[in-house]
Amino acid sequence: MTVIRAIKGTRDILPDEVAVWQRIEGAARTLFGRYGYREIRTPIFEETELFARGIGTETDIVGKEMYTFDDHGASLTLRPEATAGIVRSVIENNLMNTDPALKVYALGPMFRRERPQKGRYRQFHQVDVEALGLTRPAIDAEVVEMALGYLEACGLQSYELVLNSVGDAKCRPAYVETLRAALRPQVSRLCPDCQRRTETNPLRVLDCKVPEDQPVIEALPRIADHLCVECRDHFAEVLRELELLGIPYRLNHRLVRGLDYYTRTTFEVTSGALGAQNSVLGGGRYDGLVGALGGPDISGIGFALGMERLVLILPVPEGETRCDVFLIPLEDAAFDETLRLQRTLRGAGLRVLMDPEGRSFKARLKMADKLGARYVAIRGEDERRKGVWSVRDMKGSAQEDVTESRVAEHLTERIHG
Ligand code: HAM
Repeated sequence: MTVIRAIKGTRDILPDEVAVWQRIEGAARTLFGRYGYREIRTPIFEETELFARGIGTETDIVGKEMYTFDDHGASLTLRPEATAGIVRSVIENNLMNTDPALKVYALGPMFRRERPQKGRYRQFHQVDVEALGLTRPAIDAEVVEMALGYLEACGLQSYELVLNSVGDAKCRPAYVETLRAALRPQVSRLCPDCQRRTETNPLRVLDCKVPEDQPVIEALPRIADHLCVECRDHFAEVLRELELLGIPYRLNHRLVRGLDYYTRTTFEVTSGALGAQNSVLGGGRYDGLVGALGGPDISGIGFALGMERLVLILPVPEGETRCDVFLIPLEDAAFDETLRLQRTLRGAGLRVLMDPEGRSFKARLKMADKLGARYVAIRGEDERRKGVWSVRDMKGSAQEDVTESRVAEHLTERIHG
């Protein structure tokens, strides 16, 4: 029989890896709670139109990477990111009515049909954060500060914060025209993608990585010189607050990001340890998105972190232990006693295992060791006659007899302290 394999670009998170996932999920819940964020869970598929309108039809995500399918005449898509779905939910459920400064986060799988490589998958997971209804620069600085605090809480020490401002509906259209005008005379020197983008979405040209295009791109007009006064002041205040908080950053005028909804502040955190796919997290402000999706004219800002990428660069955690007490009945007569003790100890919150297959004593000790058991409790003929359990401390190798009436209490005290 042929073996069925996981789909290209997807991967299993196996039991040995799951501890680090649970740790970063837990860190998100704890840290974001301190900043007033609450969790939201939205569906994994939505109407295709939501992403087309939200992310932009000229983006790579919407143009080539979505998993779209027909559902009896309706066009549906597996979510390629979380922001559009969250904004849809906020509008549909009128969440802004009860909470004009809404802070939410979400964890879960996203789907993009990209070419798989290290750190790039077709099903991947994001930690996503969104703050809606806040217009002042202070929330931009706070979101960035929280993103970095999260990386540190997860144990990441080395990374770089990169920032830019992409302007707003007032100043960007004129900049886009300036860019297009500067690109047109040189368009034949650019890659086919950039030739197309010159007409469809010239900002995307700034994202191009093709080496031959770089001399042209580096000489293009910079958005920082074309921001309106409001956008310039907003960005200057974000930078001032980051400096006040002691957060180092680097400006990159080419950071336009792969989604069209961004306005003003955009940011990314990169790590050299990741190789080509070096962005650990990315985000920014999206002041027009809620309106574009049919909601009130309110601002938004957020970021998403790629969990697979974070896991790839975190220090390898120590092997976890899976067992507090391992029970070894050495004769059939001890079996019932063992079942009772196992139930009592588990009821007291201990992780208790035994070998249900009844292998040799040596094999069972080996099992206990492999599981990282802290204590082994043995009951043989000798122990039964004396009315005790022989309790072995697997760390110090000391062994003592403990009266059967006290053994549950004894082990619970040892483990829980
Ligand atoms: P994004 O830059 O498309 O932004 O994705 C954010 C992060 O998701 C990336 O920095 C990366 O770590 C991870 N990621 C993206 N694609 C893949 C992939 N194929 N495989 C593995 N990891 C990947 C967004 O998604 C925006 N919704 C972020 C946002 C939230 N902006 C405002 N609010």
